[in-house]
Amino acid sequence: TEPKALPFDLAGRRVVISAGGTREPLDPVRYLGNRSSGRQGYALARVAAHRGADVTLVSAHTADLAVPAGVRVERVGTAEELRSAMLAAADGADAVVMAAAVADFRPESLVQHKIKKSDRDPEPLKLTRNPDILAELVEARRAGRLRVPVIVGFAAETGDPDTTVLDYGRAKLARKGCDLLVVNAVGDGQAFEVEDNAGWLLAADGAERPIPHGAKSLLASTLWDAVSPRLEPK
Ligand code: CTP
Ligand code: CA
Repeated sequence: TEPKALPFDLAGRRVVISAGGTREPLDPVRYLGNRSSGRQGYALARVAAHRGADVTLVSAHTADLAVPAGVRVERVGTAEELRSAMLAAADGADAVVMAAAVADFRPESLVQHKIKKSDRDPEPLKLTRNPDILAELVEARRAGRLRVPVIVGFAAETGDPDTTVLDYGRAKLARKGCDLLVVNAVGDGQAFEVEDNAGWLLAADGAERPIPHGAKSLLASTLWDAVSPRLEPK
C-alpha cells in the first residue's frame, strides 16, 4: 500500500507556538513552577514544520526535548517574558497556539538574597496575578492592535462532581474568546508527563470534535487539520 503523503498545507504560513511551563522566581534559588513537560507544544511545532510552516516556538521550561528540525526557538522563563515574546512574534502570523502552562500567580516580590530559615514559622507567600496572555492576544486583535487570523488555546481540566471536563472547556472557550480550544482531560496520569493525550477540540463557531486517545503528534495533526481551513486565503 502507498504511504499516505503528509499534507503540505502550511507552506508559506507563519505559526507561533508557546510550550512548556513558566517558572516564577521567589529568590535566586527558588521558583513557583508546574509539571508541564512541553511535549505537546513541541509536537505541534514538529508537525507544523513537517506541513511546511515557518515555526517560532516560544519555549518556557520543558523536559529535555530536542528542538524539531527547522523550528526557531525562543527561550523564556517567566510569564512576563512569555508575554513579551508572544506579543512580539504573534503580529502578522497566520496562527498562534498557546500550549504553554502559564503560572496564574507569581510571588509578589523577588527577594534579592536567598531566603534563610530560622526557628520561627515562615511568612506566608504573597502571590500576585500574572497577565492572561491568551486573553491579551484576543483583546489586542479585537482592538485592532494585532493581526492574526487564528488564535488557539489549550485547557487542562479535571472536571469535578458538578461539572464535566467538556462543560468546563465550553465555558473556558467562551470566556477566553479564542477561535479554537483544545480541551484535555487531566489527572489520573492523563496528559502531564506522558506521551499521549485525549480530549475535545472546540471551535468558537460551535464545531466540536473529540480528539481520539493517541500520541501527542496525533493531537497536533488534528489541531492543524482544524486550523488549516480557518487560515486566510493566500
Ligand atoms: N493562559 C495564558 N496566560 C495565563 C494563563 C493561561 O495565556 N496567565 C493560556 C494557556 O496557555 C491556555 C489557556 O490560557 O492556552 C487556558 O489556560 P488555563 O490555565 O486552562 O486557564 P485559566 O484561564 O488560567 O483558568 P484556570 O487555570 O483557573 O482553569
Ligand atoms: Ca491557569
